[in-house]
Amino acid sequence: MAKLIVANWKENPETEAEALKLFAATANIPRTGKGANIEVVICPPFVYLEPIAAEFKKLPAGEKRRHALGGQDIFWERTGAFTGEIGPGMLKSLGARYTIVGHSERRKILKETDEMINKKVIAGLAAGLRVILCVGESRETRKQGDVAAVKFIKEQLTRDLRGVGRWPLKAGHLVIAYEPIWAISNGNGAGKNCPPSEALAMTQFIKLVIKKLKLKTPVLYGGSVNGKDARGYLSHPEIDGALVGGASLNPKEFEKICQSAI
Ligand code: PGA
Repeated sequence: MAKLIVANWKENPETEAEALKLFAATANIPRTGKGANIEVVICPPFVYLEPIAAEFKKLPAGEKRRHALGGQDIFWERTGAFTGEIGPGMLKSLGARYTIVGHSERRKILKETDEMINKKVIAGLAAGLRVILCVGESRETRKQGDVAAVKFIKEQLTRDLRGVGRWPLKAGHLVIAYEPIWAISNGNGAGKNCPPSEALAMTQFIKLVIKKLKLKTPVLYGGSVNGKDARGYLSHPEIDGALVGGASLNPKEFEKICQSAI
């Protein structure tokens, strides 16, 4: 299976001109040799989706197949009196194939609950979007040890995926991103790194939980992934890709990450 490399630009860059420049640099990364078997999902802020989708359409067919656009979030209602929200159909109509849901920054800063995230997962899948659900434990939970961390992840997955097992889910339509909160950078890709062995152990555990929920999904790792350490995660066949924040804003660094995906 192709590895999935997701570029989460977060609230960056500040202008449309910069966003178009970053997209051009990211879409031009050579996909040769070791980097050939990957799919790159670019998740810009909503407001840049339309101009980027116009540029996306101009990519050669082969490149178009290896790239996709995604949103960083969705709301669970398709339309209505929900000021500021963006429905899954709106994202799709702009050319997005994926959406991230349940990112820890939204959970923490915007107080999103598991109940809200569960509704978003279901709404995204119902609209035919590919949903990347982020899960991850806090530093406090991690400090309590492995048992506490896996218990937290199991409960978070169970709550966020309530009812999803009853779905006729197509392969690759639901993706889990394991993002330990303590390993996410402040936007520069240089935070405290989660050792690849720990990321692998949690990936294997997540796959077991997912199986018990009667699901099968790829599992990505996210948290300070950069050009230097990407291979440590991506060389494991069980880690199906990476969710990259800070380093996705630097095309050179992002290129190294893409080339690390075997
Ligand atoms: P980071 O962000 O790579 O900057 O740590 C990852 C994420 O939050 O998705």
